[in-house]
Amino acid sequence: MDTRCTGVFEDQYSRSVGTIVRAQSHYFYDTVRQIIGTSVIPRNETFTVGDYGCHDGSSSKDIVEHLLGALRKLHGEDITVHIIYEDGINNDYNALVKNVSRNGRESGNQKVFVSMCPTSFYRQCLPDDTFNIVLCFWSAHFLPRAVSYKDSLSKFPDGSRSECDAVADLASEAWQRFLLIRANEIKSGGCMLLVVPAEDTERRYGESSVHLQKLWVAMTTVWRLLRDMQHVTQREYEAANYSGYYRSEDELRAPFLDEDSPVVKAGLRIESLLIQHERIHIMSQRRKEETGNTENLTSSIPKFVSAVRSWTEYMFRQALSSRSSESRRDLINSFYDLLVEYIKQQDMYTSGWDNIIAYIVIMKK
Ligand SMILES: C[S@@+](CC[C@H](N)C(=O)[O-])C[C@H]1O[C@@H](n2cnc3c(N)ncnc32)[C@H](O)[C@@H]1O
Repeated sequence: MDTRCTGVFEDQYSRSVGTIVRAQSHYFYDTVRQIIGTSVIPRNETFTVGDYGCHDGSSSKDIVEHLLGALRKLHGEDITVHIIYEDGINNDYNALVKNVSRNGRESGNQKVFVSMCPTSFYRQCLPDDTFNIVLCFWSAHFLPRAVSYKDSLSKFPDGSRSECDAVADLASEAWQRFLLIRANEIKSGGCMLLVVPAEDTERRYGESSVHLQKLWVAMTTVWRLLRDMQHVTQREYEAANYSGYYRSEDELRAPFLDEDSPVVKAGLRIESLLIQHERIHIMSQRRKEETGNTENLTSSIPKFVSAVRSWTEYMFRQALSSRSSESRRDLINSFYDLLVEYIKQQDMYTSGWDNIIAYIVIMKK
């Protein structure tokens, strides 16, 4: 499935969403130091790190630098490190190469090796016992395929009961599959660090509204408008479906609860799982404005929508695939222009948008 972040909007991803994810990765710094501090790394053995669903590698840059610093401090400058960047076959690997080819070599260190792995993380990507640490940021919520929603782009706002049940089943099966494959690839004593957008179904962790849900309401409303204005056909309307799913804490923990579950038997356990409501970037721009910094909100909404476009445009390109490239481009441009106007009118940015984020550390026995 093509879920790549595309085109000129890619830059917006690195600058906005990428910046947020980079900051989120700092949450794992202590864990990384502890793991490296307690790892026995036999002489001449390579320390191997994976970044799954890496996109252009910009979001993991800080944690990779932190990890290399900790490794060199504790195990000497000579340690050999291999960083493997994994993503789908349609990812923009040129952007990735530009961002990561000098990783770890700034100070002339030649013992950091970088390679790319274009595949799908629903298949085994590397041989058994490859990784000491796997990173997977904002990617594991993508399912191996989309569920088809007849009247909605995603589960929110108008997935039917049977569509919501079908996506929950698929997400459960996909999470177990993802974990079992990683259990093969991670070395004994190794770990996986994940950041995933989640759902706080029972509002255990806060009361505020959920921006990802609101975003799907906004996107579905505008997509519907294009259909009602007969700019897209009913068939095209139904063909646009999001392949992501925000799991609840219970769904994230489910494969680890039972000693007899295949995931536990494969040696994985949750070391920690933290769910947080986090204010999104656009809100911090608003705060700046309130405190006198005149960062212009009217220009920040188009930037926000460009960032959203970088990871959602693929749905519309797929749905409109029978059209000429000009017609497809014009319609997609209209969609995102209308989304900007819709968000401005709804005053959505002043109503407390949060992301609900799960930070998960998984260890392999
Ligand atoms: C929202 S981006 C996150 C990129 C980056 N890790 C970050 O945190 O900013 C999601 C990434 O997951 C990738 N992805 C989605 N499904 C995938 C799959 N089955 N296998 C590998 N990568 C996948 C997409 O191509 C995309 O690059």
